[in-house]
Amino acid sequence: MTLSILSVASEAVPLVKTGGLADVVGALPAALAAHDVAMTTLLPGYPAVTATLGKKPKVLHTWDRLLGEPARLLAGKIGVGSSEGHPLLVLDAPGLFAREGGPYVDATGRDWPDNWKRFAAFGRAAADIAGGGVKTLTFDLIHAHDWQAGMALAYLRFAPFSGDGAGPQLPSVITIHNMAFQGHYGADLFPALGLPPQAMAIDGIEYHGGISFLKAGLAAASRITTVSPTYAREIREPGFGMGLEGLIRAREGEVSGIVNGIDPAVWNPASDAALKSGYTARALAKRATNKRALEAEFGLEKGDGPLFVVISRLTWQKGMDVLLEAADHLVGIGARLALLGSGDAALESGFHAAAARHPGRIGVRIGYDEALSHRMLGGGDAILVPSRFEPCGLTQLYGLAYGCVPVVSRTGGLADTVIDANLAARQAGVATGVQFDGVRWQTLADALTRTVQLYRDPAAWRSLQRAGMGADFTWTGSGEAYADLYKSLTVTR
Ligand code: ADP
Ligand code: GLC
Repeated sequence: MTLSILSVASEAVPLVKTGGLADVVGALPAALAAHDVAMTTLLPGYPAVTATLGKKPKVLHTWDRLLGEPARLLAGKIGVGSSEGHPLLVLDAPGLFAREGGPYVDATGRDWPDNWKRFAAFGRAAADIAGGGVKTLTFDLIHAHDWQAGMALAYLRFAPFSGDGAGPQLPSVITIHNMAFQGHYGADLFPALGLPPQAMAIDGIEYHGGISFLKAGLAAASRITTVSPTYAREIREPGFGMGLEGLIRAREGEVSGIVNGIDPAVWNPASDAALKSGYTARALAKRATNKRALEAEFGLEKGDGPLFVVISRLTWQKGMDVLLEAADHLVGIGARLALLGSGDAALESGFHAAAARHPGRIGVRIGYDEALSHRMLGGGDAILVPSRFEPCGLTQLYGLAYGCVPVVSRTGGLADTVIDANLAARQAGVATGVQFDGVRWQTLADALTRTVQLYRDPAAWRSLQRAGMGADFTWTGSGEAYADLYKSLTVTR
């Protein structure tokens, strides 16, 4: 029997993306279709999302007042890469989502002041849909992603739309893509949420006297997943759990890690239209054309050391401050750097200054550019991901697929997906990259030096590239893992 899943998230490619969450939510429907799971995705009606629905979208439901706002549920399709198009539901609430700016911040980078209401309403709508409030839609399980969808599970638990709440609860999964974002608000908002008093409790949505949308979801979910096995272990500790480690430990047996995949139709160097020269693991020499083009694009001189690339949010999480400190060392050992990213203003100007200090050796693009990210992976020698924590990380997976050797800190999904080029791994021919412990100047500088040494041994370097390109980080295994999880939660019903 085909299982019907409602996937609830604030982002999904190709419609709205601020990070890897969007890639994963966008890829899941296709990844699960192969396992007899039909997934419908619910997104907020941001302008870029409603724009894809055409002039006369199908209206499945209306709310006169959804946390005070008029709203409609619209039907559409979402598809990317290898997928044909999967069912999409859009919460069209113009007072909440139809505005210029980002999904979470205004044009000046400040959080929207009504984010609590926007994502509470989103959760309320999701619970109505999952709870049987929209007659034409029925689901076997609800899968919520991150804090923006957390309230869906709290509403389902404490105030389902239909029934008396005493019947069997719809099973639920919540996936933590990043513990650093929790959706904290003041307790004064509680009356506006429309939840019964018992929800404001330590095993409900209450968090240190306030409200946490992520905790609300974690406390209510039948199962909790995160995006790598190592991060699933790390979030039991304060440094990674960021205040929710106690809850994670209390629910230990119900927390697991399923590593993200990448879509081979989008990330394949043999067929990537963004590349000057396509290539395979057997024809790595063809990468040279891409490398020369990339050097020209970033105004870099030719060199016999490796060309490092970075494609990243410029934030503390990503260790970009430490990379900035190590930039002089990187140049000093004969390497070059091409960086694409945006984020903290101080880091943006810091990298501009590093580029000005090292013309021809460091090139910087501040901004967001999907096509350029492909060209960097197809021409760069190594991709740097020195994150302080990384729930999964996708760019190291792209690096593996493109023979752009990942150089990563040993944390979260980076620890789970890259095999360090230590002596044993190299002798066995299984090494795929370079890992280092602890994100500090010295550890990163050592890793950069070690990478340059490996690069100067062409046979060793080719072996790293080929092993990475041979690894399978498509959705095959992880799609099955999610399908198995859903099945295990629905069999007894
Ligand atoms: P996170 O979600 O924490 O930012 P991930 O590695 O999971 O980290 O996902 C980041 C995604 O965003 C990847 O698909 C990456 O290629 C993309 N990305 C990040 N910064 C940029 C940028 N400046 N230009 C293009 N793509 C970017
Ligand atoms: C988050 C994490 C990243 C992960 C992505 C998708 O943004 O920071 O590590 O890959 O979610 O799960």
